[in-house]
Amino acid sequence: MDEKHFIPVARLDDIPTGTKKVVEVNGTEIVLCHTKDRIFAVHNLCSHAHEKLEDGRLRNCWISCPVHGARFNLETGEAMNPPATMPINTYEVRIVGDSVEIAV
Ligand code: FES
Repeated sequence: MDEKHFIPVARLDDIPTGTKKVVEVNGTEIVLCHTKDRIFAVHNLCSHAHEKLEDGRLRNCWISCPVHGARFNLETGEAMNPPATMPINTYEVRIVGDSVEIAV
């Protein structure tokens, strides 16, 4: 069976609600996004012109690219408006005690 492997990437205290934190996992930069609802994890790379998303605006269910304004659904990675059309990678998140873990 193909079991998911979760690895700890941050402490919950490091990412207060409304903030983001960039972590690196196996050479891939991932942005942890703590919205009002929960913590999401997405690839720190816009699918349009490959700019970093870490300084983008964060809302409950999306992050926007700071360069040309494309928005991405934090849950599915889907591009919500142009100029991006391709999705970004998203990662499953779980909280274990004070530890934020993501599935790789
Ligand atoms: S680089 Fe992100 S929308 Fe263009």
